Amino acid sequence: MEYVKVVEGRAHLLIPNPDLFRRSDGVYEPSWAPVFYNPRASLNRDLSVVTFAKLGEFYGISSFNAADVLAGVGVRGIRYILEVPNINNMILNDINQNAVTLIKENLAMNGINDKASVYRSDANALLYRLKEGRVKLNYVDVDPYGTPVPFIPSSLSSITRGGFLGVTATDIAPLSGVKQFAGSRRYDVMLTRTDFKYEVGLRVLLGYIARRAAELDKYLEPILGVFHDHYFRLFVRIDRSASKSHKMISENLGYILYCKNCLQRTHINDLNSANFNCLRCGGKLELLGPLWVGVINNKEFLNQLIDLVKGRYNYLGNHARLLKLLSTIRDEVEVPYYYDLTSIASSLKVNIPKIDETIECLENMGFKASRTHLTPTGIKTTAGVEAVVECIAK
Ligand SMILES: C[S@@+](CC[C@H](N)C(=O)[O-])C[C@H]1O[C@@H](n2cnc3c(N)ncnc32)[C@H](O)[C@@H]1O
Ligand SMILES: [Zn+2]
Repeated sequence: MEYVKVVEGRAHLLIPNPDLFRRSDGVYEPSWAPVFYNPRASLNRDLSVVTFAKLGEFYGISSFNAADVLAGVGVRGIRYILEVPNINNMILNDINQNAVTLIKENLAMNGINDKASVYRSDANALLYRLKEGRVKLNYVDVDPYGTPVPFIPSSLSSITRGGFLGVTATDIAPLSGVKQFAGSRRYDVMLTRTDFKYEVGLRVLLGYIARRAAELDKYLEPILGVFHDHYFRLFVRIDRSASKSHKMISENLGYILYCKNCLQRTHINDLNSANFNCLRCGGKLELLGPLWVGVINNKEFLNQLIDLVKGRYNYLGNHARLLKLLSTIRDEVEVPYYYDLTSIASSLKVNIPKIDETIECLENMGFKASRTHLTPTGIKTTAGVEAVVECIAK
């Protein structure tokens, strides 16, 4: 196999030569290579490094036993060892023997073999084996091809009390309701297409993980939820308590009712309170859920995270983009949907308005309003669709 050397963050890595796995249009296809490494996901890894680092400081955890169970060339786990303080031991695992060989070479190249344990195993088998061996994992990273669904129950089972799960999903179309049948089947939800599809995707994924946790008498506290480029990324804290699990479900799981005719939307916690008639246009409302309708982002964590990134992590390749992303998330109004100005303007047959002017208009009417990191044309607001339409029509 032919390798080339790259540097990402503080890590030096051998990766399969990307020039050998390019499509006819010249675009590199990481999944064609014998071991997976996607340079496009470097912001995901930068984000994960800084978030992991902040978790220890924010929650007062001085030592991490962590696992990167779908490790590819090992970039994520290696970066955690090099860039996150307080890693006691990092498990790097992949089912692919070529990956495992490369992970070992990459660990040696960075001089950190003493901090790592390498396995070649199915991730689920490994996680249950570690649980059986009473290994106390307080951070598990799941970064799969497509959906993380097959790895959620084993991850939730093996994370120790008060530990963390970092999870990526790249099956954007099913999660966000664009491929609604695949999404409904995979995540056990009712889905439909909306004009706030990325919000739907993030909340379906979080709601799914919460329901799997509840089955185990566990509960989660969301810390950070991100959509970027071609993936969703979530960080949650896991603990055990049947009563808190019940509280999590009753307070944060719910449904969104959506009118495709006039774009009205609302959310409810209890299906018994659903009224399927659109009060605005008389049309029939569509039901999405169950999904997470509660707060996703811990704003105090985000404030501290932003300070940390500004200070200690200014060497990151995506430093400016990461700060912009985190600041936008911090400033988002907490409602479980956004309004897409393009969709509303097109339904009104008017030009797309300036986003800042629309936000100002809503604020002048007494509502909270902000941009969203989920799409550049989205607005999150406490206002209903009538006020948004009024501002756009102006
Ligand atoms: C998207 S890649 C991981 C990328 C890596 N985390 C990164 O940040 O570059 C998914 C990896 O999971 C591995 N994999 C797929 N199914 C697996 C399974 N059941 N158990 C363990 N590894 C698996 C693949 O070989 C591949 O290396
Ligand atoms: Zn309606």
